[in-house]
Amino acid sequence: MALDGSLASSASAMAEHVQLSGVRRGPFQEGERITLTDPKGRRHSVVLAVGGQFHTAKGAVNHDDLISHLEGIVVSSTGGTQFLAMRPLLNEFTVTMPRGAAVVYPKDAAQILMSADIFPGARVLEAGAGSGALTCNLLRAIGPSGRLISYERREDFAAIARRNVENFFRASPPNWDLRVADLLESRIEEPLDRVVLDLLAPWDCVAVLADVLVPGGVFCAYVATTTQLAETVETLRVHSGFTEPEATESLVRAWHAEGLAVRPRHDMVGHTGFVITARRLAPGFTAPLRKRRPARGAYGNDYKGPRSQPG
Ligand SMILES: C[S@@+](CC[C@H](N)C(=O)[O-])C[C@H]1O[C@@H](n2cnc3c(N)ncnc32)[C@H](O)[C@@H]1O
Repeated sequence: MALDGSLASSASAMAEHVQLSGVRRGPFQEGERITLTDPKGRRHSVVLAVGGQFHTAKGAVNHDDLISHLEGIVVSSTGGTQFLAMRPLLNEFTVTMPRGAAVVYPKDAAQILMSADIFPGARVLEAGAGSGALTCNLLRAIGPSGRLISYERREDFAAIARRNVENFFRASPPNWDLRVADLLESRIEEPLDRVVLDLLAPWDCVAVLADVLVPGGVFCAYVATTTQLAETVETLRVHSGFTEPEATESLVRAWHAEGLAVRPRHDMVGHTGFVITARRLAPGFTAPLRKRRPARGAYGNDYKGPRSQPG
């Protein structure tokens, strides 16, 4: 009896853990978003409804042929075309889900999680939430014991982010606090281990976030252009309560591997964005002066950024 009880409670704990990860096991259920892949490798995102149909140029696929069946089955359309049915992985979900603002792509989300050292149990602030793609990644990485505060100043985008997060996790994660507000006009009181910014002017947020980031905590900004990168890096330096900022860009090249034809694929995403990180120093301490001189002309007459001209 006791054994049955403990098995049941560990099974339910495991089910809850799986649920909070956004992963679902077992047969497909009504209301789930799944991916149908056609023979040419094209993916179609479908929300299952009893009696529903997915229409293609090659006939319709009946949702009832999928509901209650296992993931990984192959179904035929009324026109005889076969489709592979799978649940989307998180990286597929974030690029196919409905969006308002542009999303952080999986390669950059991976880079952000590692560079910002997002860990289970972390107290993280994110802004802006946009469509909620990075939010999903952050929530999964911090796990149920972490806490995520997401700021989004546009109500319509916040609604999209909420819907996407709730669709992925099939619930509103209890450790997620979505605030529809401008980060710069908000009062943040709770201490934070990590802050992750994906917004136009992260440099404007440096001072306010420095006050709530714990010593050793990580400031991370994701920006699209070199001018944003430069402004963010120099603002962090001028603040002087952070370590020397580091900036990276990641390029991912997919490969074609078939028989003797093993080579990089011809198509490649040329540019998405840059990841900048710096760590918060203890209160009252400033970063040791860099021994290395700036490159010649780095802060010459044409330099108009936040760092004043060295004397
Ligand atoms: C590129 S989108 C973020 C996309 C998001 N990271 C994702 O993966 O779906 C930038 C968002 O930042 C929001 N934003 C810009 N400045 C903000 C601020 N000061 N406070 C809150 N949100 C802000 C914008 O409204 C926009 O939705």
